[in-house]
Amino acid sequence: MIKKISQIKQGLHGTVSIPSDKSISHRAVMFSSLAKGKSTIKNFSKGQDPRSTLNIFKQLGIQPEFADEKTLIINNPGKLTAPEKELDCGNSGTTMRLVCGILAGQNFNSTLIGDTSLSKRPMKRIIEPIELMGGKIDSTEGHAPLKINGTELHAIDYKSKLASAQVKSSILLAGLNTTGVTSVTEPYISRNHTELMLKYMGANIKVEKNTVSIQKSELQPKTIEICGDISSAAYFIVAGLIVPDSDIILKNVGLNPTRTGIIDVVKMMGGDIEILNEEIKSGELTGDIRIKTSELHSCEILGEIIPRLIDELPVIALLATQARGETVIKDAADLRNKECDRINATVTELRKLGANIEELNDGFIICGKTTLKGGALVETYHDHRLAMSLYVAGLICQNEISINGFEWAGISFPEFEELFASLM
Ligand code: S3P
Repeated sequence: MIKKISQIKQGLHGTVSIPSDKSISHRAVMFSSLAKGKSTIKNFSKGQDPRSTLNIFKQLGIQPEFADEKTLIINNPGKLTAPEKELDCGNSGTTMRLVCGILAGQNFNSTLIGDTSLSKRPMKRIIEPIELMGGKIDSTEGHAPLKINGTELHAIDYKSKLASAQVKSSILLAGLNTTGVTSVTEPYISRNHTELMLKYMGANIKVEKNTVSIQKSELQPKTIEICGDISSAAYFIVAGLIVPDSDIILKNVGLNPTRTGIIDVVKMMGGDIEILNEEIKSGELTGDIRIKTSELHSCEILGEIIPRLIDELPVIALLATQARGETVIKDAADLRNKECDRINATVTELRKLGANIEELNDGFIICGKTTLKGGALVETYHDHRLAMSLYVAGLICQNEISINGFEWAGISFPEFEELFASLM
């Protein structure tokens, strides 16, 4: 689908409630499916990725029921059962990597498959540690399909080279069903939703600096209220800063510090951003965010902040085109292993719109402030974050742009366009 976007002349104004967090929605379904009894998940995501996770657990014997559009009841018989066919993770890396950790230690075999993009993404990062635990996974040179021969696992202490929440969570979920203490150490702290939710559900889990340890535990069913996704809010944050004469409020945004790198970047750039009404919901910090159009300057983005904003980098690159000076983004090589090579895709597509942006092996150099001329057809590479970043770019381009494959936004954020329209 080709979507045409034109410049906004009167600014963005009003309030939007940010829809459910994708990462937390995945975990709510997975962990409730491991907790015997009735769990209630409030504000479950409508994105396609969390729906892939839900469909997989149905095939594993769980009986979820929607009490209303966004409230999911999970009645769990107490154990997973062998699936009758392959388990389709769709486009979702979180589904494949975390579910693999859960299934490796079960007493049945299973196969995880994915779409074209997911089948190209690296899975060695989870296969290696799970094999060190005694797991048996056949793959095609580290790629899906993953054929899992369920077997009893043993605990390990794993030092990960990557700061990846998917790797960390996969190992912790394998450890949850394994005798002994399993620990994972990562170079920088990645998003910690797994740790918070497992703790909330009664797991024996401990965090010490960059190391998380877990022991075999019975999870308790709970009511989990999912906050809004800061990765979805990111498009509104950037639009609010760069579309002239804007003043917007985003309600119910997850503010877990392992996810708020974008807020730190906006502050470093001198942006007008305010956090309001902070509270804790189901173990996660949430609040509202007010953003006004701002004069921005460049900054350096590297090191420990990278895992705290990894999914926001395409839209942060756009933001940097509107900041005076040279913004350097480094230490983000793993961005090439996301739903597409997001370094190359971001550079190629923003250049078509007139951005001054250079590709580094592990990031970008962006010189601003640049007037984006637009007037081009841009590609999404079947990647939801590219689709949404380019939509925001279109709001400030001098000439209308056309986005090919805009429908991919639905992977994480089907409400995206409707919510933007409500601010225009
Ligand atoms: C996710 C972790 C991140 C992120 C992805 C979701 C998660 O991946 O990019 O969109 O839910 O755990 P890595 O942890 O592999 O960097």
